[in-house]
Amino acid sequence: MKVLITGGAGFIGSHFVRYWLKNHPDDEVVNLDLLTYAGNLENLLDIEKNPHYTFIQGDIRDPQAVDKAMAGVNLVVHFAAETHVDRSIMEPANFVTTNVVGTQVLLESALKHQVDHFHHISTDEVFGSLELNTPEKFNETTPYDPRSPYSAAKAGSDHLVRAYGETFGLPYTISNCSNNYGPYHFPEKFIPLAITNLLEGKKIPIYGDGLNVRDWLFVTDHCRAIDLIILSKKTMTTYCVGGLQKDHSNLEIAKMILQIMNLPEDRIEFVTDRLGHDRRYSVDWSKINQDLGWSPSVTLEEGLKLTIKWYQQNTVWWKRVKSGQYQEYYQKQYLDRKNNE
Ligand code: NAD
Ligand code: TYD
Repeated sequence: MKVLITGGAGFIGSHFVRYWLKNHPDDEVVNLDLLTYAGNLENLLDIEKNPHYTFIQGDIRDPQAVDKAMAGVNLVVHFAAETHVDRSIMEPANFVTTNVVGTQVLLESALKHQVDHFHHISTDEVFGSLELNTPEKFNETTPYDPRSPYSAAKAGSDHLVRAYGETFGLPYTISNCSNNYGPYHFPEKFIPLAITNLLEGKKIPIYGDGLNVRDWLFVTDHCRAIDLIILSKKTMTTYCVGGLQKDHSNLEIAKMILQIMNLPEDRIEFVTDRLGHDRRYSVDWSKINQDLGWSPSVTLEEGLKLTIKWYQQNTVWWKRVKSGQYQEYYQKQYLDRKNNE
């Protein structure tokens, strides 16, 4: 089988490329990735010479590049996207072109090339925000209510995938997953930013009151969920995927990281809140559990320990990522924020 993975040089995509090559060693994997600031071929150094793996640098918004990559493909697993909420607040335009238009270009090409299965990777953020301290959870029937340019653009891409399924009969599946974390996570996101800041002797910046809740899932558990969805061969359907049974605020996550790293709580600093900051995410993953037998295998404590250890052992990787353009982003996002207080 030939598998086209888009965004395979990013955080989750690179784990999935590695996962697929290991678990489906006879398949041919093509990774189509533009290599934006978030794409990094260093995430794939261990598999780049695998004879079953090909990398193509290309833009999912470019119909010619996509058509070329789609030739002979049986399965598409679509990760490529602009993914950071704070960047979507600073500069929303790329989120619309990549996440919405890019997805439509891929769908059109998948239809033309008669691919057997299009799996779209989405997020729980399309469902909006839940109240704190309630038993509410997102599930497959929760109405869409995106509140950031990132989640709005991801919602647009989900609607297009379903539209291509309903209107043109393209066999699709969608997974709406909660926040992932683990090795190779770009250090603009909360957990890797916290860990690498601490390793640099800096503090963990906490937005607002720190009581916002995210439903964290270790990245390899997400890869396994996607694999099960694809292997089930049940198309035209959606699965919610999440990690935690209990709520953990950002402040609690920061304190867990400090405790594992043996650092004092004064290494936390509160900064101006994010605009439109979603208060709480929590995912009911009973459908994928009942239908496909999936459940998370890595606990939050284990996952944080593994992740911290990886960043401690891979300073060259994250120091390179945190140099250059990243510094400009950090200045704009954090230093100005603190000065405005
Ligand atoms: P990431 O930002 O680490 O990686 C995105 C990848 O897409 C990069 O390699 C980048 O170069 C590539 N890309 C961006 N624009 C492109 C374009 N126009 N053409 C081709 N490639 C392009 O993202 P991630 O955190 O690995 O997320 C991957 C997917 O999973 C996204 O669709 C995201 O919405 C979804 N998701 C992420 C999370 C999470 O917590 N990270 C949770 C749920 C769903
Ligand atoms: P993030 O990792 O950006 O993921 P998302 O916004 O897609 O959920 O942020 C996770 C949570 O951490 C979110 O509530 C915002 C918060 N946060 C901070 O408090 N400080 C930070 O420096 C960052 C990046 C995020």
